[in-house]
Amino acid sequence: MAESGTGPRNTLSIRDNRTGRDYEVEVHEGNVIRAMDLRQIRVNEDDFGMMSYDPAFTNTASTRSSITEIDGARGILRYRGYPIEQLAEKSTFLEVAYLLLKGDLPTADELDTFIHDVTFHTYAHENVIKLLNGFRYDAHAMGIATSLVSALSTFYPDAKEVHDPEKRWIQIVRLVAKMPTLAAFAYRHHRGLPYVYPENELSYTANFLNMLFRIGVRDYAPSPVLERALDVLFILHADHEQNCSTTTMRVIGSAHADPFCALSGAMAALYGPLHGGANEAVLRMLTEIGSTDNIPAFMESVRKGERRLMGFGHRVYKAYDPRASIIKTTAHEVFEFTGRNPLLDIALELEKIALQEEYFVSRNLYPNVDFYSGLIYQALGFPVEMFPVLFAIPRTVGWLAQWEEMLEDSEQKIARPRQIYTGAGERNWVPIADRG
Ligand code: CMC
Repeated sequence: MAESGTGPRNTLSIRDNRTGRDYEVEVHEGNVIRAMDLRQIRVNEDDFGMMSYDPAFTNTASTRSSITEIDGARGILRYRGYPIEQLAEKSTFLEVAYLLLKGDLPTADELDTFIHDVTFHTYAHENVIKLLNGFRYDAHAMGIATSLVSALSTFYPDAKEVHDPEKRWIQIVRLVAKMPTLAAFAYRHHRGLPYVYPENELSYTANFLNMLFRIGVRDYAPSPVLERALDVLFILHADHEQNCSTTTMRVIGSAHADPFCALSGAMAALYGPLHGGANEAVLRMLTEIGSTDNIPAFMESVRKGERRLMGFGHRVYKAYDPRASIIKTTAHEVFEFTGRNPLLDIALELEKIALQEEYFVSRNLYPNVDFYSGLIYQALGFPVEMFPVLFAIPRTVGWLAQWEEMLEDSEQKIARPRQIYTGAGERNWVPIADRG
């Protein structure tokens, strides 16, 4: 930072009216200043220096990233440059996983090897079954899955070697491979059903559906329509740049915790109803509304600020979430096969009203990814408790790609925000008899 001069430059001039001093701060990438450049703005030598205050990081970039690009104003989402619409139509989930993790679409050989490696690591240690048996019969599937992922860290001590790229890759493959197994085990425990082990000749999603739903038959073949629908949902959920859970993954990872522990933390963040728990909240909301007749009263409570229309709104998208458009089409394809979910009529009516009403239009509240996904999950036979788990399986890929990128980024350090202290000044300890 330098004292300011004149003429057009790629800089920002700041006048500190407390001192009358002028500063010139460099502008990067067209609209970014480095927060540390503000530190030199001081009233005197003892001053800590200027900093920015940004609760919930609404206007702060915490990283450079080349993984996922979102243009929230135009409703655009791209993975490594590829539009989400093209990937959802033409790719498989494991191909997209490779793209996110490695940076480019795989060649046929690379994809074969990746599929082989993921398939090879689908089994979990038998002690995982013992852990599962410790959970109550009615334990929430997301709570179980989150705990099991963190427990896996104890099975793979080499996961601590986070600076070894080869060791990192092994953990990445293990996590992508084992997530469906752990998720299916959590579901079977919840239902009181025997665990079904992975079948290596099935596709990633078919194997998952097999572990979930096979009962009493030797061979289980899910409908190709449902298998593909789940694959598309997995593609749409695979990454979404610096959201709450991804930031959690990066923050925990920045302390060099192993990826199992970091990913378990990311899952815990995802579990919240404002984030990946929203799909579950949408289904509960639609069930509670029950009939299109009850929509006016429900919408009135939303307008009054008493309720939120779950599955609507997004921090970044101020247009229709492109994932929601694709899911809406997929929902219709699934319902042709499974029969129409009666809650769809309520959802469509809510969307119609919201897209016209001043309250929602003025706040740019459009359906997000969670608005229609739950309806498909329900049609596929999943209980609502599984919905956040179904989000976590594909997002595992995004979390790991972002974790890897963070560790390779020489600018990253342990994450450690500042605070503005608002508590008491120094005071002396008082004996308990003299308090109050
Ligand atoms: N229903 C009703 N009003 C809403 C909603 C909603 N779903 N979302 C935002 N608003 C209002 C909010 O009350 C506020 O109004 P006002 O300016 O009068 O105070 C205004 O819109 C801005 O809201 P905000 O809470 O400041 O926005 P945010 O960027 O902090 O929150 C959000 C984003 C996703 C948490 C929020 O829109 C929300 O709670 N949506 C419902 C939960 C949901 O569907 N979450 C899934 C997000 S997509 C999946 C994922 O990536 O996690």
